[in-house]
Amino acid sequence: MSRMNLCKYLLFSALFAVLMGLFSVAHVTAQGAAKAQSNSFEFVFLTDIHIRPDMNAPIGFQMAIDEVNRLNPDFVLTGGDLIFDALRGNQQRSDSLFTLYKNMSKGFNMPVYHCLGNHDLFAIYEESPEGENHPDYKYGMFERYLGETYYSFNYKGWHFIVLNSLDVTEDKRYKGFVHGEQLQWLKNDLKEVDNTTPVVVVTHIPFISTWKFVNGGSGTRTVENADEVFALFENYNLKLVLQGHIHWKEEGFVNDWFHFITGGSIAGNAWKGRRHNTREGFFYIKVNDAVLSWEYVDHGWEKKRLKLAE
Ligand SMILES: [Fe+2]
Repeated sequence: MSRMNLCKYLLFSALFAVLMGLFSVAHVTAQGAAKAQSNSFEFVFLTDIHIRPDMNAPIGFQMAIDEVNRLNPDFVLTGGDLIFDALRGNQQRSDSLFTLYKNMSKGFNMPVYHCLGNHDLFAIYEESPEGENHPDYKYGMFERYLGETYYSFNYKGWHFIVLNSLDVTEDKRYKGFVHGEQLQWLKNDLKEVDNTTPVVVVTHIPFISTWKFVNGGSGTRTVENADEVFALFENYNLKLVLQGHIHWKEEGFVNDWFHFITGGSIAGNAWKGRRHNTREGFFYIKVNDAVLSWEYVDHGWEKKRLKLAE
């Protein structure tokens, strides 16, 4: 090739690359604009992360974050038990875990809505060196790092409510309970919601579960006053209740009224493998006008964990 022809070739190649770049930016922008205008949207429900610095947990959580970013939903809802854990009141460790969680969750390319789990309560156990006067006690540390423990927001005509389903017993254990102050807040929140607006509720401790019927055992795995919460939704278009805590994967449909999903977990059995023989993963939920659909996404942690253990 002559020197002149080589120059022409290089110039043409550079021009072609610039044009292709512009085309692909325009294509992505058009896709974004179409998504913004449509009533359809997607979100993920990702629960029981139990982040810790060991057990290769940061590798596993990062794999989930990468998979969520690849799916590119509009936002992320978490289902609580974000860290492992703050219950025993070790200030330094609890701070480092919330810092780790907060920093890692910045890796999501979309907004993240955080939910409180029992393991995120600070210093509530009997053996804790800290007491009720500590500013981080119970909900305090979660609030300091991540904000309110219950709140709501609207998205494309849907109303999302994230609840705090935890309280502390007199003998210093946690219990599934939606406290009175929050019930009053919920009543007021719903006053602003039209009874045709589809509503999604997130709770760490399940309101409803098949767990005890399938698994047996003693103790409750559900919210004590779930009926009081449901009573507030009686005349509303409740579409979906998203639940965490038991690392149990289930779904159900109640009275032509609402679906419930318990969302498996990211941590499995304390990062050592499957819990209840359910793979680590999260729910990818699509909203197409008023129709919901979902799938459980395995982000590949089991394979990776086994490889790391070799
Ligand atoms: Fe939990």
